[in-house]
Amino acid sequence: MVQIAKDIYWIGAVDWDLRNFHGYSTPQGSTYNAYLLLDEVPTLIDTVKHYCVEEMVRRVKERIDPARIRYIVSNHTEMDHSGGIAALLKLAPEAVVVCSPKGKEGLSRHFKAPWKFKVVNTGETLSIGRRTLRFHLMPMVHWPDSMATYLEPEKILFSNDAFGQHYASAERFADEAGSDIALREAAKYYANIVMPYADPVCKVLEALKTVPMEMICPSHGLIWRKPDDRSAIISRYDAWAHYRTERRAVIVYDSMWHTTEMMAKRLYESCERAGIPATIYPLRETHISDVIAEVLRSGIVLVGTPMLNNHMLPTVGAFMTYLKGLKPKKRIGATFGSYGWSTAGFKELEAAMQESGIELAANGVYLQWIPEAAELNSLDSVIATIQSRSATSS
Ligand code: FEO
Repeated sequence: MVQIAKDIYWIGAVDWDLRNFHGYSTPQGSTYNAYLLLDEVPTLIDTVKHYCVEEMVRRVKERIDPARIRYIVSNHTEMDHSGGIAALLKLAPEAVVVCSPKGKEGLSRHFKAPWKFKVVNTGETLSIGRRTLRFHLMPMVHWPDSMATYLEPEKILFSNDAFGQHYASAERFADEAGSDIALREAAKYYANIVMPYADPVCKVLEALKTVPMEMICPSHGLIWRKPDDRSAIISRYDAWAHYRTERRAVIVYDSMWHTTEMMAKRLYESCERAGIPATIYPLRETHISDVIAEVLRSGIVLVGTPMLNNHMLPTVGAFMTYLKGLKPKKRIGATFGSYGWSTAGFKELEAAMQESGIELAANGVYLQWIPEAAELNSLDSVIATIQSRSATSS
């Protein structure tokens, strides 16, 4: 239990063991942040994953008998935040679950229980005594039901998934753990969770422009309380949601007999000569969620594969499936690879790039068996073509 403001407590759980969050590698674990507001009407903001409930209840009991809780605000139905509601309601049978209209639908479908609901919409308020909760629906940040809760007069935004990070630590605040770490983890979180929902994020950022905030409390990771940290995370979200990228390349590949690897390295040399910072990721050795974190800041995406039975290697296929879902728009790129007797499967890679929102700015380069040096030189034209394009913004 950590007091984050007078009578406002973090009572969530730290999931030190988590290493994969539905496909997103979480080497540092994560947290499920829940908050206890002690007022005339004791209120919880969100809960935790089902297997962390005991940890949360222990923290609640340090401050209050759970039976006194009257509202459980469910900002988001996804079960990393709602998984503890059923257990809490057993301890707090008088409590009403406060959620968005889609939240009520989602919670009912997930838990199939006759809970007491209070459905709220954007702009609605709920007095809990000295304080008031103000709700703001933010559909698709991250699910249709998602909403944020703003606490007055403290000016605290409980933003749920928005502005979060999968990062387990003993510290609760970004300035304690290190703002650079918090921003780095927030970037990975945005890239892997929030990136497909850029338009809804832009709407939320627009709505927040006029809202004074003293603290941003996400449902994962560290809390943003210092003014510099609050502005930094909001300005990063603004850049990411508007697809602003750097003039840099990410080169992603897998290889069978080293030809595609040679091509990746040759592309790297071409980038270096062209003054384009580049990073190479061999997919066999790299988790796709780490590659996506690099894609977030890169304006140029180059993907290579050999042909296996006339298709991409499965590692590259998995990466492209993931990329298509995340849709990193307003980037340019190219494809490359090696083959033995048929180039037909490269069409599949090119189509997947376009479906991901990456414009193919140069013709793909596909080389047979083990290439001659002159054939590798043809990769220079890919970077020359890309260089001639204005692919970046600040
Ligand atoms: Fe952290 Fe969309 O749940």
